[in-house]
Parts: sequence; structure tokens; C-alpha cells
Amino acid sequence: MSTLSKRRSVAVLGSGLLRDVPILLLSRQFDRVYLYDLQHLASVRLWARLNRLADLDFQTRDLSGVEQLREKPGVQPRPLNFLNDIPELDLVISANLLSQIGVGIGRMAAADTTLPGDASPRLIAAHVEGLKSLTCPSLLLTDRSYEVLDKSGRVLERDDLMKGVELPPSGREWSWTVAPYGELSPDYQAVHQVASIRINAS
Ligand SMILES: C[S@@+](CC[C@H](N)C(=O)[O-])C[C@H]1O[C@@H](n2cnc3c(N)ncnc32)[C@H](O)[C@@H]1O
Repeated sequence: MSTLSKRRSVAVLGSGLLRDVPILLLSRQFDRVYLYDLQHLASVRLWARLNRLADLDFQTRDLSGVEQLREKPGVQPRPLNFLNDIPELDLVISANLLSQIGVGIGRMAAADTTLPGDASPRLIAAHVEGLKSLTCPSLLLTDRSYEVLDKSGRVLERDDLMKGVELPPSGREWSWTVAPYGELSPDYQAVHQVASIRINAS
């Protein structure tokens, strides 16, 4: 935010419960905050109203591009194109959404023959390409891989949550213990690798 010359509108993709983003700061710094998610709970909307955050604009939207892919499997979907129609957009934040698109669409494609088998990597790539082609800067926050480890540190399972799609170079990376010992099992924990990636305007 501090590097932006103007702070008019910001869009948060995968805004969910508003826990990963400094929403009060965004609300103070920008004139308008567009929040996109498949769903926004009534409790989150109520919280915004009680805190008089009138500049928050809750938008329900499927950001994956799966319907575009289903309709025209031969064409690369552009699910973030709608962002170019938002007036005075100065920043886009993709907030821990991309791996969920990958996992969700991967499961859908396994059960639904109307979707191409490579739907998951194609929609991950479409999201990254969508951010790269914006006319304002964006920040991609995403867990990119995970490991399940036992107490001796042995890796029992690991997977690439980006399904082989290469991301732009990350500014910072850190480990996130999504399920500590005891949550899934007393014997193992699940640790995700998270990246923060700044993407400049095209
Ligand atoms: C890990 S949560 C992110 C949490 C959120 N950033 C926060 O601060 O609380 C992932 C979010 O992505 C949303 N999501 C998953 N698939 C989506 C899709 N296809 N389109 C829009 N939102 C989606 C989920 O509803 C969920 O709110």
C-alpha cells in the first residue's frame, strides 16, 4: 500500500471471513474496498455494518473460471477480466484463494466428465495470468505446497498445490502449520509453504 501513489479502490479476491487481510487498514486507506468470494457470511456483513465500514462492497462471485472452461474447453478462460471494468482500481489482493481453486476444481474435474482433466492447472494459470494482465499492481498470497510430517520429521505425504504451474518470483515465503500434531492425528502434522508475490501492473 505504501508504494501506491493513489489509493482509490482495492479489490480483495477470496475475502471470506476477512481474517487474512488488514481490513480496517484497507478501509481507512482506500475510498472503496471490493470484496469477492463465493459467499460472505451474514455475520461478516453484520460486523462491517456495526463497525460502520460503509466503503466495503461485498460481491458474490465464482472467481475460478470453471463455467467459462466448461462452455468453451478449447479457450483459456479469463476469470479476472471483470476487474478491468472497476473504475479507479489501484490494487488487487488475491488472499489465500488460489490453492482452494486448485483443490476444489481438481475434485470437480475428477467427478465431472464435462470438464477437461487438466482443469485445475489451467484455472490456476488463468488466475496468475489474470493478475499479470491487470493495469494496477497486485499481491498474490497463496499456499503453494504442503507436507505431512511425522514426529521424527519424516515426510509422509507432499503435494504441489499449484499443480505444476510456475508462479512469479516470491517476495517472501513462510511455513504455515495448518494442522498441528493432535488436530488430524497425534502422530503427524500438516505444514503448508506460503508465498507472498508482488505483481507489477502490465
Ligand atoms: C482460505 S479461505 C481465505 C480466507 C480469507 N482470505 C480470510 O481472510 O478470511 C479461501 C476463500 O476462498 C473462497 N473461494 C474458494 N473457491 C472460490 C471460488 N471459486 N470463487 C470465489 N471464492 C472462492 C472460499 O469461500 C474462502 O472464503
